[in-house]
Amino acid sequence: MNFIFSKKEIPRIAFLISGRGSNMGAILKNIKAKKLKAKPVMVFSDKADAQGLQKAKTFGVETKSFSPKEFLKFEEYEAELVKVLKDKQVEWVICAGYMRLVRKNILENYKNRIVNIHPALLPSFPGLKAQKQALDYGVRYSGCTVHLIDEGCDTGPIVLQKVVDILPDDTEETLSKRILKAEHETYSLALKKLFNGFELNNRTIIFK
Ligand code: GRF
Repeated sequence: MNFIFSKKEIPRIAFLISGRGSNMGAILKNIKAKKLKAKPVMVFSDKADAQGLQKAKTFGVETKSFSPKEFLKFEEYEAELVKVLKDKQVEWVICAGYMRLVRKNILENYKNRIVNIHPALLPSFPGLKAQKQALDYGVRYSGCTVHLIDEGCDTGPIVLQKVVDILPDDTEETLSKRILKAEHETYSLALKKLFNGFELNNRTIIFK
C-alpha cells in the first residue's frame, strides 16, 4: 500500500487529550514560537476536568469536552466527535494523552492523519504503564515513539523515536519524567516532518 501526503502551508490541527496535556502544551509553545507551522483550532477532551483544557485556554485555543457516557453507544460519541472536527475543518488529529482507542469513524475520516505519542520504544511495551513495563522487564533503554494511529493499540507506522537511558536507581516516576522530557522534544519534530509531506510505503514513512 502506498499513501502520499503532500505538504500544505498551514495545516489545521486538533488535539485529543484526557489529562494534564503537557505534550499538547509543548507543541502549542512551539507553534507560538513559530518553530512549528500549524493552526491549532481545537482541543477536545473526553474528560471535562482535564487539566489540559485550562492550559489550552491560556494559549487562546478553543476547547470542547463531552464523554462517551453521554451517548448510548460509543459509535455515537465518535460520530459527534467527527462532526465537531469536520465543522472546524480539522485536517490532522493529534492525540496527546487521550486515554481511549480511536475507532472506525475517526480512522476512516482521518486516515493516516491521526498521530499519537507513546512513552516507550514501540513495538516494545504497548498499552498502559509503558514505563513500568520497561522497568519490570529490565531493559537498559526505553524512550518514546510518535506513530500514526491505525486500528490496533499502539501498532501504527512509526514516525520518530527517541532513546532514553534507564538508570540503575530509576523508579517509575523518575523514568517517566525523563521520558516525558524526550516526548516534549520529539512530538513537535515529528509533526514538522509529517506536515512537510511524506510517503507511506507499507509501514515505512519516507519524509519528503
Ligand atoms: C504521555 O506520557 C504520553 O506518552 C502518553 O500519555 C502521557 C500524556 O501526558 N500517551 P501529557 O498529558 O501530555 O502530559
